[in-house]
Amino acid sequence: MKGLILSGGRGTRLRPITYTSAKQLVPVANKPILFFGIEWMRDAGITDIGIVTGDTGAEIERACGDGSRFGVNLTYIPQSAPLGLAHAVGTAQGYLQDSPFVVYLGDNLVKDGIAPLVREFERDQPNAQILLAHVKNPQEFGVAELEGDRVVRLVEKPKEPKSDLALVGVYMFDKTVWEAIASLKPSTRGEYEITDAIQSLITTGYNVRSHVIQGWWKDTGRLEDLLEANRLLLETQERSILGNVDDASQIQGRVHIGAGTQVIRSEIRGPVIIGENCHIEDAYIGPFTSIQDGAKVVASEVEHSILLEGSRVLNIGGRMEDSLLGRDVEVRRDDRKPRAYRFMLGDNSQVSVI
Ligand code: G1P
Repeated sequence: MKGLILSGGRGTRLRPITYTSAKQLVPVANKPILFFGIEWMRDAGITDIGIVTGDTGAEIERACGDGSRFGVNLTYIPQSAPLGLAHAVGTAQGYLQDSPFVVYLGDNLVKDGIAPLVREFERDQPNAQILLAHVKNPQEFGVAELEGDRVVRLVEKPKEPKSDLALVGVYMFDKTVWEAIASLKPSTRGEYEITDAIQSLITTGYNVRSHVIQGWWKDTGRLEDLLEANRLLLETQERSILGNVDDASQIQGRVHIGAGTQVIRSEIRGPVIIGENCHIEDAYIGPFTSIQDGAKVVASEVEHSILLEGSRVLNIGGRMEDSLLGRDVEVRRDDRKPRAYRFMLGDNSQVSVI
């Protein structure tokens, strides 16, 4: 069994972060989303993994390397143009050949990993196995109609969904998928849809098995989803304090503080993860916050947020919530006269002031 991770896409809903970084490398609980997919494949016993890349290929390759740090062999497969998920899978046909394989969308997170589902697919050998999850907004996903356990129809982003069962971005196929992909026409959004390829397998009479997953699943394409994924992952955060915490500070609950980090006169209420060499002073860090290496929070309150490497929140006085700061971003109170808001924001940045 081989693995295939699709890691192209432009990440338009996460701009401006995705102007300078691949959406699959945005960290949740201080780890790039893509790494979870690689580790879940490894934990399911899959060690030969292809990664289909687009414009951000070089960055993805730099971050993941040859895979040895994860205990897998990674092969990078550039996609000529972003023509859809089925096109991306088709690009990897030479790599996958006749092997059965798991496809994992690089921006998806599945709580409990995929090991039991891979075992089931290997044992029962259906032609395809799809995962489904109940969602509140099915029109934003591929949607399945079931009769009992049987999938009768799959529709990509239907305006009037017939069920609330969305296709999760993890699919398992045997080699019959190649003929389905070869027969596809572009959809109305101009893409070769993996949903249509699976529908074609169903129409031809192949055995397509579905599974409704019970644990949480997140497509991290938007800020709300990213923050929610961060929250869900931090729920299982363990307490470990490696940095220095002074006597005037209070650390409550499941908090990780990385080596070289200084915490001075501050209160940190878990679950929270703080990386290495950060500086937290006269601050409050509230639940569901992830702070990457080298960040600084001084005389400010931060809760339910993600701060990337080297970002700084200085003297804002009030509380910052539901926020994502990119690398080396600075948010500060400024006492210069005249008193005014002063911004330097990249395209598509969003700021809410009170
Ligand atoms: C893709 C698939 C969709 C699936 C979703 C899961 O949508 O086309 O069927 O439900 O991933 O994340 P996209 O993220 O490309 O809009």
